[in-house]
Amino acid sequence: MLLKGKKVLLGVTGSIAAYKSAILTRLLVKEGAEVQIIMSTSALDFITPLTLATLSKGPVHHQFHDPKSGVWTNHVDLGLWADLFLIAPISANTLGKFANGICDNLLTATYLSARCPVMVAPAMDLDMYQHPSVKANLKKLKDFGNIILEAETGELASGLSGQGRLMEPEHILEYVISHFSKSQEFKGKKVLITSGPTQEAIDPVRFISNHSSGKMGSALADTFADQGAQVHLVLGKGAIKPDHASIKIYPVTSAEEMYQASSNIHHQMDICVFAAAVADYAPKNVSAEKIKKEGDGMTIELVKNIDIAYTLGKLKSPFQIHVGFALETENEEFYAKSKLEKKNFDLIVLNSMRDAGAGFQHDTNKVRIFTEEGKSFESELLPKNQIAELIIKEIKNLPVKI
Ligand code: CTP
Repeated sequence: MLLKGKKVLLGVTGSIAAYKSAILTRLLVKEGAEVQIIMSTSALDFITPLTLATLSKGPVHHQFHDPKSGVWTNHVDLGLWADLFLIAPISANTLGKFANGICDNLLTATYLSARCPVMVAPAMDLDMYQHPSVKANLKKLKDFGNIILEAETGELASGLSGQGRLMEPEHILEYVISHFSKSQEFKGKKVLITSGPTQEAIDPVRFISNHSSGKMGSALADTFADQGAQVHLVLGKGAIKPDHASIKIYPVTSAEEMYQASSNIHHQMDICVFAAAVADYAPKNVSAEKIKKEGDGMTIELVKNIDIAYTLGKLKSPFQIHVGFALETENEEFYAKSKLEKKNFDLIVLNSMRDAGAGFQHDTNKVRIFTEEGKSFESELLPKNQIAELIIKEIKNLPVKI
């Protein structure tokens, strides 16, 4: 009974997939959830309130007031009652209304007044799902902080085949269970993450940089935000931008700009993760004009950039956690441990270029983690979001009280 004591408000809209809401209701109830249901008017054409009421053992609402009894259904109370408002299936129509604040039935009114997390599982035909307006509406909901359970791929009611099928009720149940089991351990905590490459200008058209994609930093930002943190992501040019309402992005280009943006907010942070691949050197003089080709060779004089992690490490308070990264090609453990000490990190994440599928650009990573108190941990080769979860788990195990 993984959902015992959880209150789930299930919204059902007009779609062929509405029949699957009966299976979903049964699964939620079986796991111990208390379920109330709101149907949109057009959902009534696809499934009856009697079916859903019988399976949910609870009320099914579809109008503001019952004309027979005259009883008023308070959408504000419904929104406040729920621990989770799950709309499955959500049609393109209701999605469009949610995205634009349209409030013309009990379901849409409840959406606007709900204070709990909202999860939507779209179902529609192939071309509808691909339409830019639907995509834009889904993005809007994501930006509002709602959770999107992407449609699955397979045979559609129209006979076409592709993405658009309502996620299978068993899969939706897994997401609901994982939503409730995920801790909000970082609620109220502020996390600084530096991520991506820096670019050091040579002249107006050229720069020195590296292959960092920012994927690891983005995965960390998303995972911290999912666990309730307010994330401040100082992001180098061209790096992957995460898309989460609790992540504030500070776009920067050079190491100096990355340092300025980070040091401005460092004192307010509980955790700082230095995931950026900062260029160690920058051209001493940046030419105002494009450098013209002359002679057979050229020399660019470079000067050392500020070391962001080292400089802020000296300002670290006993209530802050600093996490660093090291990407090495040889003597990996030795170099990582020296950086851990030199830069005053509580924990360092080592990537070795010798591990296939790890490091820059990949969607996967394989890491070794060393802590200041001498603990170590080695991961498998895993997708970067799973690596982010492992790193965060080790951060939670640190002795520092934040
Ligand atoms: N770092 C930083 N500012 C720099 C250089 C590095 O904040 N100017 C941070 C990185 O984000 C990382 C850690 O320091 O968390 C180690 O970075 P790395 O480039 O591996 O170390 P360096 O000190 O630059 O050493 P080297 O390049 O000689 O290996």
